[in-house]
Amino acid sequence: MIKFRTRLLAALLTLLILVFASLGFLLVHLFHSSYDAKLSSHIEKEAALVASLANGENMKSSEQGAILEKASRELDSRVSLIDTKGQVLFHFGGRAEEQSVIKEALESDLNGEGGGFRINPDDESVYRYVQPLKDDGNVNGYILISTPVDSLQDINQKIWILLGVSLGTAFLIIAGLGARITSQYTNPIESATQVAIELAKGNYKARTFNEDETMLSQSINMLAQNLQDMTRAQEMQRDRLQTVIENIDSGLILIDGKGYIHLVNRAYQKQFHVEADQLLYHFYHEVLEHEEIINLIEEIFMTETKVRKMFKLPIKIERRYFEVDGVPIIGINDEWKGIVLVFHDMTERKQLEEMRKDFVANVSHELKTPITSIKGFTETLLDGAMNERETLLQFLSIILKESSRLQTLIQDLLDLSKIEQQNFTLNIQNCNIGEILAEIEMLLKNKAEEKGITLTLEKPDKPAVASGDPHRLKQIFLNLVNNALTYTPEDGSVTISADVLEDAVQVKVRDTGIGIKQSEIPRIFERFYRIDKDRSRNSGGTGLGLAIVKHLVEAHQGEIDVESERGKGTEFTVRLKRASE
Ligand SMILES: Nc1ncnc2c1ncn2[C@@H]1O[C@H](COP(=O)(O)OP(=O)(O)O)[C@@H](O)[C@H]1O
Ligand SMILES: [Mg+2]
Repeated sequence: MIKFRTRLLAALLTLLILVFASLGFLLVHLFHSSYDAKLSSHIEKEAALVASLANGENMKSSEQGAILEKASRELDSRVSLIDTKGQVLFHFGGRAEEQSVIKEALESDLNGEGGGFRINPDDESVYRYVQPLKDDGNVNGYILISTPVDSLQDINQKIWILLGVSLGTAFLIIAGLGARITSQYTNPIESATQVAIELAKGNYKARTFNEDETMLSQSINMLAQNLQDMTRAQEMQRDRLQTVIENIDSGLILIDGKGYIHLVNRAYQKQFHVEADQLLYHFYHEVLEHEEIINLIEEIFMTETKVRKMFKLPIKIERRYFEVDGVPIIGINDEWKGIVLVFHDMTERKQLEEMRKDFVANVSHELKTPITSIKGFTETLLDGAMNERETLLQFLSIILKESSRLQTLIQDLLDLSKIEQQNFTLNIQNCNIGEILAEIEMLLKNKAEEKGITLTLEKPDKPAVASGDPHRLKQIFLNLVNNALTYTPEDGSVTISADVLEDAVQVKVRDTGIGIKQSEIPRIFERFYRIDKDRSRNSGGTGLGLAIVKHLVEAHQGEIDVESERGKGTEFTVRLKRASE
């Protein structure tokens, strides 16, 4: 690309050359013609003078010759006297004129007035003038004056040199100034052009630098700055939007007006176990695997209205519940831009709902059994059985047992609901775990003895002080030790031990009982879950004990673990925060 400045300068110089050349020619021509006119009028006058001096009557007189010779000398010209037939009578100041010249001279005086001529228009060195000699109106002969005009060419040359030098100097000065001025004016334009090119390429950091700040460079810099700010703001906004889209919990896909998928966020990929590449820029019909979703998209395409539907979709090995919101995107001018689908995974909420339903069913069932039993025995007694003292006693003790089961069940339910409440608080203080465990050993010693189980408490070597609610901690360990005694057959043993770790107090309740199957371990903390319902019921269990334990341990920000082997025994480990002494 030829630089703008070069082109401008070249145009300027061409114009200058043209103007100067035509000016030169015009000047030379003007000078030339005015000089020529002057010269010819001068010679004309000379010729007229010579003619007036000459004697028209006696052409050949010696007097005539003397006059002409003098005139030739004075005028420094060739003077010839010619008769009407073209015969040269006298000639002075050089050799005689050629015949062709004389012929021309006579021809050029057609009307007898005389006139100047040049033999050869290219040969400007001699100017000739012919003047008729008249006597009483008759032409007797001609005076022919030939003046050399070599000097005209000299002058011509000088004029050319002078013009050349002066115009050349002027040209150089103007060219120099022109170059300076154009560079001054074009520099900002060139640098602005450069910046504009950079901006077009997307480099918004480009700026122009000039000593003198022109409007152009100022505005181009402002434009660049604005573009930079705008793109930065846009990038920030895009990043923010991207972050939001990528990090929301709900799956999101965007389909354009033609049915091609343009966006798939991370949550969607996780929910449906797909990679973005599998979906992006594909036709939705070909890549979405659930018929229900395809139908939903079609419905939105047809009705152009929002649709919200609940689906149970098979994904890998499970079936998950999704609430899908489909929204048509309609731009300005009712332009159809596509569809956004948002997938809310409702599986957990659904499960929770099921759990709640199960819970109500379980509670009712648990309550029904003892009440039916109490009612049945009471009715039997009223029907007459109460008259037999032995039956009466037996039935009453059953009724007592069932009602105490009811009481424990209700107590456990109340406990559980209280613990699960949002505003459940613990009365946290420093608790001596050793003391609590000793108390529990005292409480359950009898039960262990009845079953022939050795209950051992291994006291910690250091004082084990944990921060917790003493009443609740007692509840935790009572439940665990009680379970250990319940699920351990006669002649077994149950060991309670406490250890002081660096920042925790660890309590273990170990038994040599029936153990728990590995697959059952995650389930035993569920409410009402019992591996062996009869055994649990016989021992007065409600199936809520471990659920309460787990909630309480979590409320203490502690941990609970179970290790068990079927037929060999079980070990529950509870770790509590050690109190800072
Ligand atoms: N030490 C243990 N040994 C074997 N099984 C246990 C032990 N502790 C709990 N389990 C099992 O976990 C189930 C749930 O315990 P829990 O919630 O305390 O209810 P339960 O009222 O039946 O004792 C029990 O029914 C029992 O099957
Ligand atoms: Mg229990």
